Amino acid sequence: MKTYYADVLSKVLYEHLSHEKIVQLIETPKYETHGDLAFPCFELAKVLKKSPVQIANELVEQIHSDIFSKVEAVGPYVNVFLNRKEISIPIIEEILQKKEKYGSSIEGKGQTIVVDLSSPNIAKPFSMGHLRSTVIGNSICQIAQKVGYQTVGINHLGDWGTQFGKLMYAYLTWGDEAKVKASPIKELNKLYVYFHEMAQDNPALENEGRIWFKKLEEGDEEATRLWTWFREVSLKDFQRIYDLLDVQFDSYNGEAFFNDKMDDVVRLLEEKNLLIESDGAKVVDLSEYNLPPCLIKKSDGATLYATRDLAAAIYRQNTYHFSQAIYVVGGEQALHFQQFFHVLEKMGYDWVKGMKYVPFGLMMKDGKKMSTRKGKTILLEEVLQEAIGLSKKNIQEKNPDLSNADEVARQVGVGAVIFHDLKNERTNNCEFSLESMLKPEGETGPYIQYTHARACSILRKSSIALDKIHFNGLTDDYSWTIIKLLEQFPEIISRAFHRYEPSVISKYLLDLAQSFNKYYGQVRVLEVDEQIHSRLALLVAVVTVLAEGLRLLGIQAPQEM
Ligand code: ARG
Repeated sequence: MKTYYADVLSKVLYEHLSHEKIVQLIETPKYETHGDLAFPCFELAKVLKKSPVQIANELVEQIHSDIFSKVEAVGPYVNVFLNRKEISIPIIEEILQKKEKYGSSIEGKGQTIVVDLSSPNIAKPFSMGHLRSTVIGNSICQIAQKVGYQTVGINHLGDWGTQFGKLMYAYLTWGDEAKVKASPIKELNKLYVYFHEMAQDNPALENEGRIWFKKLEEGDEEATRLWTWFREVSLKDFQRIYDLLDVQFDSYNGEAFFNDKMDDVVRLLEEKNLLIESDGAKVVDLSEYNLPPCLIKKSDGATLYATRDLAAAIYRQNTYHFSQAIYVVGGEQALHFQQFFHVLEKMGYDWVKGMKYVPFGLMMKDGKKMSTRKGKTILLEEVLQEAIGLSKKNIQEKNPDLSNADEVARQVGVGAVIFHDLKNERTNNCEFSLESMLKPEGETGPYIQYTHARACSILRKSSIALDKIHFNGLTDDYSWTIIKLLEQFPEIISRAFHRYEPSVISKYLLDLAQSFNKYYGQVRVLEVDEQIHSRLALLVAVVTVLAEGLRLLGIQAPQEM
């Protein structure tokens, strides 16, 4: 719509402002009664050395077009009301024609984005932070694909490091195979915590841990067997969560995968004269960036998290030739990412400018950081199951005959958790409350799913075949609000992508759902009159965009609830 207006303005203003600039300047008035679009004249005032009010008055006389039903100067603004019928037809037609492809673009054609997401640690509980990373990262992948990129979702598992030496020692000393088999992560985590308790009184244990990790690094048979087993059983536990969330990965190459690529990184750093000794350890100095040095190799020769991330970044560039590499990791790791990005920069890789750290805030419970560690564990899987259970109960009360109730309950319960995570800007902390995220009225996933299902149910009742409908334009205020929102969808997707911010889409979906529910309260869609085709077409467009928007968030849209 902005483009239409800019086309007209541009004919008069091309000597002073570019078309692109005009599009940028056009605003949406706060109140719909003030018009559909507003052009502020401040920028022109600077160029023309006249008052913006005067310019606005002159412009009103100069611009004429069939697409306006009214043009008026309001102070320094030129407000226009668009000709609703004429404007709405191509918008709705485009949606009906493109269906779920509506809003796609080819911006990223031929380019690859690597997304590092989820990345839990083996033998440790899947935390709220990992949930956030999974959900935000998955949505960013969907959005990036929508704007034409190829994506590679990588689960950079925390499956390497000295902690595995400790865990092996703990398991061999105090562990019980049957217990671990029955409940792997819970038992292994218990053993790990126990190790630390014991090590407080007996510091020699730390050394035992180091010895076992050394064995693992050197390929010792028993160490490798244990590590493989820990990894396998942990992955099985995680997989249940991924299945519930319906998230897939293109690669599970975690930290261990880079074990045999460490020497190369260290050699490269040495060749480039970047490694310096510090208390027997090897580090890269980052004082020019006002950052502490990046630790590459400990004095005992062991490599670190950062070393493995360096190897991973180089490997990903060589393998996928990414134009962007995104790391969806909690805000507490900001320093690590700054450091290792700068090390790559010092190594002279210009692709580092495509690397983006995409942090997010904490999940809080009653104002405190929500912990999935230690005894007071709230296991994430239990949380998801509880959400699913509550939606099941809801369905049994409201729609006991629903045929695929279990699947719908999963879609709604999980959708509630995901939407709750994605509805606020990702860097905000979010407060966890199952009750509020499941509310069918309110800013929730179920609210949007319910709106979508309601629209689907009207369409099912239509006596006109949906593939025969055609849109002839609608001009009432309720429809117009919806049409304007539908028109924004492509722009919303692009904004969400450029900011790596799924909440742009969540907020948009809430607006669209609210406008549709207002419409639905006022208009009798199925009444047979000369506009029934147009109303049905509008509904099809709303259903299409709601479902597609939810899909971009990683949420399913059941047709019936
Ligand atoms: N495993 C890490 C953790 O749980 C997150 C890894 C993030 N990805 C990365 N490439 N460093 O804290």
